[in-house]
Amino acid sequence: MKKVIEILQEELSAAFEKAGYDKKYAKVGVSNRPDLCQYQCNGALAAAKEYHKAPIQMANEVVELLNGSDSFKEIVAQAPGFINMTVSDKFLADYINEMAVSETLGLEKAEKPETIVIDYGGANVAKPLHVGHLRSAVIGESIKRTARYLGHKVVGDVHLGDWGLQIGLIITELKHRKPELVYFDENFDGEYPTEPPFTMSDLEEIYPYASGYSKEHPEYKEEAQTATAELQSGRRGYLALWQHIINVSVADLKKIYTKLNVEFDLWKKESDAQPYIPQMVQDMKDGGYAHIDQGALVVDVKEDTDTKEIPPCMILKSNGATLYNTTDLATIVERRKLFDPDEIIYVVDKRQSLYFEQVFRCARKTKIIGEDVKLEFVGFGTMNGKDGKPFKTRDGGVLRLEKLLEDVNEQVLDKMKDRDMDKDMIDDAAAKISLAAIKYGDLSNQASKDYIFDVERFTSFEGNTGPYILYTIVRTKSLLAKVKAQNITVDENSAIEPADSKSETDVMLALTKWSETVNAAFEEHAPHKICQFVYELSDTFNKFYHENKIVTNENEKQRESYIKLSALVGKVLETAIDLLGLEAPERM
Ligand code: ARG
Repeated sequence: MKKVIEILQEELSAAFEKAGYDKKYAKVGVSNRPDLCQYQCNGALAAAKEYHKAPIQMANEVVELLNGSDSFKEIVAQAPGFINMTVSDKFLADYINEMAVSETLGLEKAEKPETIVIDYGGANVAKPLHVGHLRSAVIGESIKRTARYLGHKVVGDVHLGDWGLQIGLIITELKHRKPELVYFDENFDGEYPTEPPFTMSDLEEIYPYASGYSKEHPEYKEEAQTATAELQSGRRGYLALWQHIINVSVADLKKIYTKLNVEFDLWKKESDAQPYIPQMVQDMKDGGYAHIDQGALVVDVKEDTDTKEIPPCMILKSNGATLYNTTDLATIVERRKLFDPDEIIYVVDKRQSLYFEQVFRCARKTKIIGEDVKLEFVGFGTMNGKDGKPFKTRDGGVLRLEKLLEDVNEQVLDKMKDRDMDKDMIDDAAAKISLAAIKYGDLSNQASKDYIFDVERFTSFEGNTGPYILYTIVRTKSLLAKVKAQNITVDENSAIEPADSKSETDVMLALTKWSETVNAAFEEHAPHKICQFVYELSDTFNKFYHENKIVTNENEKQRESYIKLSALVGKVLETAIDLLGLEAPERM
């Protein structure tokens, strides 16, 4: 189904041509003066130069030709040369009815489905998930769902950090605490135990301890670095410990991501790229791209046009150790081999933007990836507390994501304590509402911006919040439940009637934006556009709901039409929030 703007543009194009003007001037956009009209075309202003005519004269000629068109309730030329349009109620209703019977609600799927790898989540094993990882998971999940909804082949990869110093630190600390463990016996050549020598809560205590200790004690840090290097070069006992760390952490991570309604297709890890490194390094050397600088192997990635310093990409340290970017480059090699993607999207903290610039340039320069593959960095801002500083616990510590979920859930439960609902139902609703509060609070901001995490505001059932959107969906559901309970018949084949009030027109106009919204959200990696859409639709619908009788309407035709419109709003909203990774409860 074409977008409303496309349909209008076609009509205008024909009129521009008929009037003797190039149709390229017939560009239509949503009006920036909604008080005057719904859509507008400013093409006559631009065409004036080419045709040496007054823009208003040209606008008038075009409008004259379109005056008889059924599409418009009003089309007028406005000084100095705007064409202002308001579509007819019939045009709008026809469009809405077509949407209602379309499986994708009128959205056209991608003509050429692409293969897209989305690298998001980015949790590190052995460290608890903290709020810093929330944004990557939430934004990445929405980008993934949107791309998939449009028909693209999408692979979402959590890309776990499992190969860095954090493992060396844990190994070192374990060695200090339990030197008798068989993993430290270099002469041991039997099978290692299948039971891990620690639990997740042990790890959560060990890691911060070791990390803090290493900052004060250089010799301890060096020990951890050596352990990391030994692990990376294949020391058996350390590999066995590392495997235990992964098993224990991944089980825990899966639990939390599931609670967040975030689902990865792949649970790949940094270490999975290791097998690709030797050949990659060889190719970089053979191709003449890499050179030795103070013992390290580096690739220069600066360009003449740079306005700021872009340091070289270090591939191997002087001791032969690999780095974060060595792994990222080798992961590109791996992804090419496994998926042959058209695009790889990285959803990572924007503070890593320079880093990714280096990696992307290096990948292109060394021909790891061709020019035809898009590499996109979607950098997100920081989630701040009300004081405007990065979100922390009351005592200044890093807040665990699980704890955050629990806290918000408690607040929502508190708001719902007087509801006349079964406990199970309340629990289910509260879980969905708190998730909506957190995720919508995040997603409704442009990803690259910092935002303030404000629990009171996010959990409010009013305003531009997740709970408000869910509330609107629940309203449409209970409305339909009433229709069913009261045996009100709604003819399947009847249509939604042209709007008879401003509030109804506004609902319909909001609905028509579905397809352009999903496309824009995908192309610009901008889930906040979906949030804007669901908010506008919810807000217009709630006004319509308050101003009109729906189920109790005595006018049968109107009742039927209003019920159908409400059902469509509910369906569009539910589809849209699924793209945000949210679900609505039955009641709330
Ligand atoms: N584990 C990293 C971190 O916590 C994020 C990983 C991002 N993805 C990547 N391919 N580098 O900062």
